[in-house]
Amino acid sequence: MMIIKEPKELQQELKRRRFEAAKQGRELTVGLVPTMGYLHEGHASLIRKARANDVVVLSIFVNPIQFGPNEDLDRYPRDAARDLALAEKECVDIVFMPEVQHMYPQPTKTKIQVEGLTSSLCGASRPGHFDGVTTVVAKLFHITKPDFAYFGMKDAQQVAVLSQMVADLNMDVQLVPCPIVRESDGMALSSRNVYLNEEQRSQALVLSASLKEAYELVQEQKSTTAAELKKLLTERIEAKPLAEIDYVEVLTFPELEPISEQTRLSDYEGDIIAALAVKFGSTRLIDNMLFQKKDVALHV
Ligand code: PAF
Repeated sequence: MMIIKEPKELQQELKRRRFEAAKQGRELTVGLVPTMGYLHEGHASLIRKARANDVVVLSIFVNPIQFGPNEDLDRYPRDAARDLALAEKECVDIVFMPEVQHMYPQPTKTKIQVEGLTSSLCGASRPGHFDGVTTVVAKLFHITKPDFAYFGMKDAQQVAVLSQMVADLNMDVQLVPCPIVRESDGMALSSRNVYLNEEQRSQALVLSASLKEAYELVQEQKSTTAAELKKLLTERIEAKPLAEIDYVEVLTFPELEPISEQTRLSDYEGDIIAALAVKFGSTRLIDNMLFQKKDVALHV
């Protein structure tokens, strides 16, 4: 497994590998798994999917420009040794682990901004966050030129925003959205779970439990409306004293547009997402459930 810090070095290494493959009449496919490190089973599941490519590149970079001034950039969990051990175990070919000065040798004056999709949900609570995400991911795409890039659906809005960026800018990469990975009790895996104390973690189970209940309700009662779904989720979460709701939303996916409160979920033609962001102490957790029309593939 190679560990590379310099963007230029990664570009050259991949160019060399592509050239060697071409000499043998083969085309090399590259799969990129962008992460901020502190890897867990959710990241491992992305790496395993990426193994369908000839070369798997895992990027580990806590991207400062996607954090707001009062967010957790400084305390974001980091453990390079553990991350490298996991990467090795999962047969990653190249770990790209740049420092901030490698990715941003000077303050960036170029930013990528996706309009509309970034104004709701996490985009509303974290101004500028998605500009930081799209800018760094575009840089990673330029450095790696991946054929496929793998993202977890826990950050569903991120998937929607990046997919819009790829389409708008004719980027030659296919995004592969991958299912949320959960612990056996339902908790969605997140590097930020490490911040939670025992009581907070126990109460945070309400996120996955309420989404599951909402899902079951929609399966059982076809007449369930968006308003009923939102009410159920809000009531369940509000019943937990440590929970502080940032948002509970029911929107179309991937457009992230509001649907009329009286719309029955079963009547809506496309996919719908129930999305939550809730704080427990100073830790903000997100989770979601996608209500997909059975015969409609996830179009992102
Ligand atoms: O999802 C993340 O971990 C980050 O937002 C990403 C895509 C690696 C960009 O920094």
